Amino acid sequence: MSCLTVTDLNAFYGRAQALFNVSIRATKGEIIALIGANGAGKSTFFDSVMGLARATGTVQVAGTDVLGRKPATIVAHGVGYAPERFNLFPYMSVRDTLLVGAYTARGDIERNLGIVHSLFPRLKEREGQEISTQSGGERQMVSLGRALMTSPQVLLVDEPTIGLAPKVCIEIAGVLRRLRDEFGLTIVIAEQNANFALSLAERVYVLESGRVKAEGTAAELSENEAFAEAYFGH
Ligand SMILES: Nc1ncnc2c1ncn2[C@@H]1O[C@H](COP(=O)(O)OP(=O)(O)OP(=O)(O)O)[C@@H](O)[C@H]1O
Ligand SMILES: [Mg+2]
Repeated sequence: MSCLTVTDLNAFYGRAQALFNVSIRATKGEIIALIGANGAGKSTFFDSVMGLARATGTVQVAGTDVLGRKPATIVAHGVGYAPERFNLFPYMSVRDTLLVGAYTARGDIERNLGIVHSLFPRLKEREGQEISTQSGGERQMVSLGRALMTSPQVLLVDEPTIGLAPKVCIEIAGVLRRLRDEFGLTIVIAEQNANFALSLAERVYVLESGRVKAEGTAAELSENEAFAEAYFGH
């Protein structure tokens, strides 16, 4: 069953159009990736799905139309979002930040906090730490953790590896795989790092200037000469 189906999504900032008929689907328990350069429209895609940008088309979560709903309603339908640059409050503690994420899933707070702590033991050890004193990798963990506190079925993660050391990227990839394999989450990541995306995602969509230019499995895209040229330089 398709867990997230986006059809002919168009997004607008004022009179400027940022996405043009973007269609993607992710089935339950699948990781897919959107790859594209700066300005390709990756964040706009996520913001549109979450009801944070003006958009037309259809967005279905487990068969329910959600485009045009309020962001909190879309979260309550099971979509969790770890946005680019995290949007964390610098002077809030790790624990309070996670609890803020839980406001749409109050009944699940203890269970979800247990899951987040098992995935990221460092966040349990550093519960009282202020976000402003954390490393980039720790902030990425908090951002993912906050999204998981909403009890999502579908998790949207914008540039999970940006600015992070290779070792931390591997750790984040491991957590995303566990979320798919152990919790059955459907995950959509946006990446400029094509190698990371291809190593993690079952299927990849290539976004250029707001349009899907190619899609396929990691193997198919690696064999696509135009894609390899643009993203691997050979
Ligand atoms: N708030 C905004 N107002 C006007 N235009 C915007 C706004 N946000 C994004 N855009 C434009 O929409 C297009 C897509 O931007 P978007 O941020 O979605 O790209 P991206 O793929 O996420 O890039 P990056 O990798 O740099 O994060 C760009 O041309 C950008 O200038
Ligand atoms: Mg972006």
